Amino acid sequence: MSQTESIKVFTPATIANLSCGFDVLSLGLEALGDELILTKTDQHEVRICAIHGADLSLEPLKNVASAVVIKMLEDLGSDQGIDLELFKGYKPGSGLGSSAASGVAAAFGLNELMGKRFSSNELLEYGRYGENVASGAFICDNVSSALFGGINLVRCYQPLDVMRLPVPEELHVVALHPQISIKTSEARTVLPEKVEMWKATAQAGNLAGLVSALYTSDYKRIGECLRDELAEPYRSALIPAYELTQEVARSAGALGGGISGSGPSMYFLCEGLASAKEVKAAVEEAYASTSIDFNIYLSKVASEGARIIS
Ligand code: HSE
Repeated sequence: MSQTESIKVFTPATIANLSCGFDVLSLGLEALGDELILTKTDQHEVRICAIHGADLSLEPLKNVASAVVIKMLEDLGSDQGIDLELFKGYKPGSGLGSSAASGVAAAFGLNELMGKRFSSNELLEYGRYGENVASGAFICDNVSSALFGGINLVRCYQPLDVMRLPVPEELHVVALHPQISIKTSEARTVLPEKVEMWKATAQAGNLAGLVSALYTSDYKRIGECLRDELAEPYRSALIPAYELTQEVARSAGALGGGISGSGPSMYFLCEGLASAKEVKAAVEEAYASTSIDFNIYLSKVASEGARIIS
């Protein structure tokens, strides 16, 4: 290897939709994410050398991280060789933005290695490119929070316009990941192509209400707005013990919750650490009565998105 430039980047896991913001809202998790080592080589090719923590394709054009790097190098007209080593912090098919975490890690990391030639919006576009490789849809919700952290709204897709939203100080997240896999592409096929007018207006009301409540740290209203007329009615049946888990979390004090992204993970928003711990314990106990293995996380909203860690 003629050059030894190598960096390791971290990108947070994400919760997309937040119930009322299908394909437009998301938040980053402080406590969970992917790590990716990118190393320049003189081999003039992009290679995935190892993937730890998940059984994913090592074929460069099929893997999200390498596909993103290949596309960015093509756009730069560069034949720079890059080796990738990916450490998955959680399983793909979780609904916690696994493909976005890997795609954004690749886009952010390559940009750092190549002298920061791309803007933030261009990195979002490369993240979306990765989402399309993974699920056949150019979605940007998870991508925006993987790149920026915090809570983000994709106000417009064409042209792409992502707005950062405020994060109330006491907001905590509990996420339960049943150890089954639901592909985003499959979870999108169960959705109807058209929605009735009353559902569209209800969704708009809750989305506007949630954005407003985030600005005023109105926790009660944040919870009231976590309703979903567009995806949850069709997807909840794919998730074992969905209704039971939602009821248990609310009884234990969760502000509200729903499906994380396209599932199977479920998320619950809480006011304060003490409340989040109570919700986590209650949900954990309830889900242990099912026969399904699960992981459960308690996290603040990520204060930072993609970053170099070494
Ligand atoms: N907004 C996307 C969906 C997120 O719900 O299909 C995919 O994780």
